Amino acid sequence: MKKIGVPQIVQAKGNEKLLCLTAYDAFSATMVGQSDVHMILVGDSLGHVIQGKNTTIGVSMEHIIYHSGIVVQNAPEKFIIADMPFGSVGVSVEETVRHCMEVFKASGASAVKLEGTSPAILQAVPLLNDIGVPVMGHLGFRPQSVHVYGGYKVDGKSDTDRTRLMDEAAKLEEAGVFSIVLECVTEEVAQDVTKQLKIPTIGIGSGRFVDGQVLVFHDLLGMTTGKVPSFVRRYASLAESAREGIHKWLEDVQGGNYPAEKELYHLKK
Ligand code: KIV
Repeated sequence: MKKIGVPQIVQAKGNEKLLCLTAYDAFSATMVGQSDVHMILVGDSLGHVIQGKNTTIGVSMEHIIYHSGIVVQNAPEKFIIADMPFGSVGVSVEETVRHCMEVFKASGASAVKLEGTSPAILQAVPLLNDIGVPVMGHLGFRPQSVHVYGGYKVDGKSDTDRTRLMDEAAKLEEAGVFSIVLECVTEEVAQDVTKQLKIPTIGIGSGRFVDGQVLVFHDLLGMTTGKVPSFVRRYASLAESAREGIHKWLEDVQGGNYPAEKELYHLKK
């Protein structure tokens, strides 16, 4: 599949479902890179699936630059989005622009993603666009604000939520984002937001009537050991396979079946 850019992503709205998966390392980047997925997100979900933390809050710009660099190297044909971590954006316009530029430049990603609609973010987006940095928005449940919500929650359950989400999405579109992730938004409200916008929405746990879907690589392939959200459908059980593989190796070593002749090096006679 030919590498796509912002114009193709925007034009896909209403014509084709956009596909996005996360990746963080050489394996995930290669697997997703060889698929027909349109975009790869180097999400701050790496705080969970790579670092084993309970929240994404401890993820730093250095972590995002490091993992995005690996993904860019191993999936060079894909449109790669680097996720701006907690505290790096949203406080002041200048800092938001500088940090996005730094991550964009150092990682080689094709775009950055920001959570929320703080005044600093809304003012930074057009400046970033002007200097050549495409920006994706993120509304609904925002993992970086988990402590404000008091836990993981679904957004868009009431008319007030609906009005707020429609307003936030309109502001982000007006500011110049090329797409918006909608995380854990009720299907009805995600559909209303999607209809209202000219740019595509990419849903995660937000139902069917969005312009595309994104999932965390580890959730899709069953590489996690704890609880996963109810919207996740597992398409493989890699954690199970890993357990089985380790157990078989252990049995082979203990039973004297590993290494065998074809796995040995010998002194030349
Ligand atoms: O960090 C991440 O992986 C994300 C997706 C869940 C959208 O933001």
